[in-house]
Amino acid sequence: MEPTGKVVAVRGATVLGETSTADRFSVGSYITIIMPESKILGVISSLELGPGGVIRFSANLFGKFDSGRFQRGTEELPYPGAVVEIPSESELDLIFNTHRRFDFALGEMSLLKGKKNYIDPDKFFSRHIAVVGATGSGKSCAVASILQKVARLPGARIILLDLHDEYGDAFGDLAERINIGEFELPYWAMNFDELLETFIDPDDPAARSESVVMSEIVLNSKRAKNLAYKDSITVDSPVYFDLTDVKVKMQSLDTERLPNGKEGPFYGDFTRFLFKFDTKVNDKRFEFLFKPKRFRTSETFSQFLELLFGLKSGKSVVVLNLSNVPPEVINALASLLARLVFDFNMWNPFRANLPILLVLEEAHNYLNVRGASQTARRTIERVVKEGRKYGISCMIVSQRPTDVAESVLSQCSNFVAMRLSNPDDQAYIAKLVPESMGDLLDVIPALKQGEGLLLGDASILPLRTKIDPPNPFPKSKDVDFFTKWSILPPAVDLQNVVERWRKINY
Ligand SMILES: Nc1ncnc2c1ncn2[C@@H]1O[C@H](COP(=O)(O)OP(=O)(O)OP(=O)(O)O)[C@@H](O)[C@H]1O
Ligand SMILES: [Mg+2]
Repeated sequence: MEPTGKVVAVRGATVLGETSTADRFSVGSYITIIMPESKILGVISSLELGPGGVIRFSANLFGKFDSGRFQRGTEELPYPGAVVEIPSESELDLIFNTHRRFDFALGEMSLLKGKKNYIDPDKFFSRHIAVVGATGSGKSCAVASILQKVARLPGARIILLDLHDEYGDAFGDLAERINIGEFELPYWAMNFDELLETFIDPDDPAARSESVVMSEIVLNSKRAKNLAYKDSITVDSPVYFDLTDVKVKMQSLDTERLPNGKEGPFYGDFTRFLFKFDTKVNDKRFEFLFKPKRFRTSETFSQFLELLFGLKSGKSVVVLNLSNVPPEVINALASLLARLVFDFNMWNPFRANLPILLVLEEAHNYLNVRGASQTARRTIERVVKEGRKYGISCMIVSQRPTDVAESVLSQCSNFVAMRLSNPDDQAYIAKLVPESMGDLLDVIPALKQGEGLLLGDASILPLRTKIDPPNPFPKSKDVDFFTKWSILPPAVDLQNVVERWRKINY
């Protein structure tokens, strides 16, 4: 290789250098720095014209070639004056073929045409993934594309929380589609936190006494209805209890008079609670939760899990469609579903053979640290902290990473960062990514639709990648306004619109 430049200064893992052959350098391209016994690999992060026509560049150091192998990271640092070269084709192949044996790539490298970005799929899927990017940047397509690559594996098990009914057709016969509003999620599968979230308004002055009293009632009802496990039951156990017990007992306390005719200790305290409770429990939209028909006894719990996780059908992907669920309970249900997956594998002695990927779409909706409700955040925090031990991995998908609790995102080892235009979001990601990416993250606002920067330990280098288009696409197509407006639209079937609208809301 011809020497093409030299190192001028070294600052931590960044070097500044000079070259006179500018045509071979561009931001994102690779250089090697010659050391006595190895070669260090750098990625150009900036270029500028210096005095006398010389080109100055800065580069981040990512690894080194040593004894015919490429390794990520380097303890050795270059010195000023060291020779800079452009790596040869075979050196680049050595880097990019590191993970080739798995034959798993998310797409082509944007800057090296025709070369696939092979990653280590074991590392990628087993240590939590974040897919972030502005709206329309291509997250849902990336998720569909990534999952389609593994859905055919005979043992794959993926559970996807689909908030906008986007993924129903994305996996064909490989997926079990469950419409949560039509399926049943029996209220008694909730833990106590989720019940509180559903029934108690934290701003109600009586919230504290309501929760203490309710926990006692739920526990007693669970014990009374499940005598076989009476001594081991807690308020969180997934066993049947009767919701009317809550109403009857709270009502009697709310109207209680002591033998001396004086008002009982909770007299009038629960009136508000009872009114809301009644409204909710009798609301037709909540029938799937509060009036279960199929799952009405503790014995049905295993059948419930079997259907919910697609264990019976053996399908590798289960799409849980939450689009027709009333928004008031999304938080509690996201918590419930994520927890069921976690608890299931925690108690499953064969979990090592049943690793599950839990995909959380539009995660900012229920993982917002400033949101009124924190149940889902707490649950998912636990899942990401402890999930690895139990074979549960999460894929967190969000267009507003700053709204996703740091405690959750910081547990992700791999990031697919798509175009992010908001500087706060960019800064937030820069803080979270597992290694110092230096200026490399500057490309994030300039990424094209469907292009992502792959960061983390599954990828040999942080690489700009054109994610393969999914086939089929999820139902998230951009609407071409101008094209649509250029033709006369068909008449709107208002009756149909109204009916669909009502079906969702009643
Ligand atoms: N990898 C890709 N290949 C081809 N087209 C893509 C790709 N990714 C995205 N697109 C196009 O971009 C559109 C928007 O993508 P997508 O719905 O995945 O964005 P998003 O980031 O999930 O947006 P939102 O945050 O609003 O959910 C898609 O309908 C598709 O037309
Ligand atoms: Mg999307």
